[in-house]
Amino acid sequence: MYRTHTCGELRIENKGQKVTLAGWVQKARKLGGMTFIDLRDRYGITQLVVEADAPAALVEKATSLGREYVIQAVGEVVERQAKNPKMPTGEIEIRLEEITVLNKSVTPPFTIEEESDGGEDLRMKFRYLDLRRAPLQRALRLRHRVAHEVRNYLDAKGFMEIETPYLIKSTPEGARDFVVPSRMNPGQFYALPQSPQTFKQLLMVAGYDRYFQIVRCFRDEDLRADRQPEFTQIDCEMSFVEQEDVLGTFEGMMRTLFKNVLDVDIPDPLPRMSWYDAMDRYGSDKPDVRFGMEIHELTEVVKGKGFSVLDDAAYVGGIAVPGAAEYSRKEIDALTEWVKRPQVGAKGLIYIKVNADGSFKSSIDKFYTPEDLARIAAAAQAKPGDLLLVMSGPAKRKVQTMLGVLRLEMGGRLGLRDPKVFAPLWIVDFPLLEWDDETQRFYAMHHPFTAPKPEHEKWFYSNKKEDLERVCANAYDFVLNGNELGGGSIRIHNADMQKRMFEVLGIGPEEAEYKFGFIIHAFQYGAPPHGGLAFGFDRVCALMGGQDTIRDYIAFPKNNQGRDVMIDSPSEIDQAQLDELQLVSTASADNGADN
Ligand code: AMO
Repeated sequence: MYRTHTCGELRIENKGQKVTLAGWVQKARKLGGMTFIDLRDRYGITQLVVEADAPAALVEKATSLGREYVIQAVGEVVERQAKNPKMPTGEIEIRLEEITVLNKSVTPPFTIEEESDGGEDLRMKFRYLDLRRAPLQRALRLRHRVAHEVRNYLDAKGFMEIETPYLIKSTPEGARDFVVPSRMNPGQFYALPQSPQTFKQLLMVAGYDRYFQIVRCFRDEDLRADRQPEFTQIDCEMSFVEQEDVLGTFEGMMRTLFKNVLDVDIPDPLPRMSWYDAMDRYGSDKPDVRFGMEIHELTEVVKGKGFSVLDDAAYVGGIAVPGAAEYSRKEIDALTEWVKRPQVGAKGLIYIKVNADGSFKSSIDKFYTPEDLARIAAAAQAKPGDLLLVMSGPAKRKVQTMLGVLRLEMGGRLGLRDPKVFAPLWIVDFPLLEWDDETQRFYAMHHPFTAPKPEHEKWFYSNKKEDLERVCANAYDFVLNGNELGGGSIRIHNADMQKRMFEVLGIGPEEAEYKFGFIIHAFQYGAPPHGGLAFGFDRVCALMGGQDTIRDYIAFPKNNQGRDVMIDSPSEIDQAQLDELQLVSTASADNGADN
């Protein structure tokens, strides 16, 4: 038997017991004549001690242990002289009688501690060592817990977990596909699924009624803190449901997760906000509602004072930053530079300080009297002590989006974005379609399988752009603290309506047949009304753990260049493999290695 207990298990109640532990040497140090060893496994750390008067061979063995050696230790549980109240095992230590080195370790490139050094790259390269650290172990334990709770909840609600294929057909719409060449079908490629969307709908046609899957998805898109090229969804679909049924089922799931995993109560029912309200008030379709600082439209109230920047703007809006009237000129200049960065994209920033004594100081004093400024401040609900920040432009949504980014920044600076506070809500009533000026065509706001609201169908069949722009969908996103955790919709289940959708998206009948024929055909064989959604499992876990970055909630993630630096992937394949696949690579070796 390798061990009688784990390294996190022993307490003062075990005093006097003879035990055997096994684990990794976190560190060994000499103090006086004694040697102390911190022995670690995934359950905790237990202190081992070799007394000064222990047999010389044992003392020598203890002192020769290096970091990360794997050892087995036999000894007696004794009460510690100097107790450590911070450690669950801090009241005891093991007085050693025997040490067996099970395996040595070379010196690790960084020490395995809570807050480890070593830098990002090194830690990714030695991910298996980073994974020994407590924060990562906590993250993966949380992930396991969440998956378990999800399965319990959905199983109890009658959902069946069904696997769908990973080698599917390339139908780029949304992100780019990862493709896999087929040896048996030279010149042809599979694609890895961006989501199991069409398969789960086919399962509804097949009568499975309630499906879910904790499933890997693949998207070849630019990476950010909350995006990985392969990530996991909690993917769900239900038949004979309306929006209300889907929202009820899944806010129930999230409520159960938060309660059972974190002991946090989230509101019942969850608040809902229309997409239009979210854009107008927060400049985002994933508003962070942990704090106010809402956007107010000022287009009319600023007009007619001879300041052309505002007079000629199609939209003017502002946010009142509480208590920031004291910002210095320098700080405001820095903020102006900040909004001018390409990531925000503003041309400039107008400010109005509403001083504590009720006076005003603004960058537009030349054009506006104190009475004008008072009216503007009132329209923006700015109070004495606030700094009103104003932006304008020819396109309303663009200005609102920039104000939304600024709002998040100011909320962060004011400490209003506490990761321990959870403010979830549903965003509902999304537009069905989004017009793109550049390509002069409509795109599906969610995806092309989303149905128009029944009461908007008349516009959906119209050929006027204004009509199509007004069509809303029973589509919904689950938003938490400024992050989109999940989204879904009520689907089209009628072959003709699905064909119309492809037509609206500029996908001709032949292309639609080639890419999506299977689903159009399936809809002819008795497709039930259905709808569903998918949560980003990695994001759910990260946010529950108080982080925005999903990487540490994935055991083996990719870096920002989409590389796994530990296994050094992607990599070239050898000529024989290329030949077998009948592929010719035109990229030079250097390109491949650097990207
Ligand atoms: P959607 O594309 O909105 O919907 O994806 C659902 C959720 O998946 C998460 N997500 C990601 N997480 C990490 N890395 C990524 N690259 C990434 N991309 C998306 C987000 C998102 O909310 N088939 C539809 C769902 C449906 O309609 O049922 C779909 O995939 O949290």
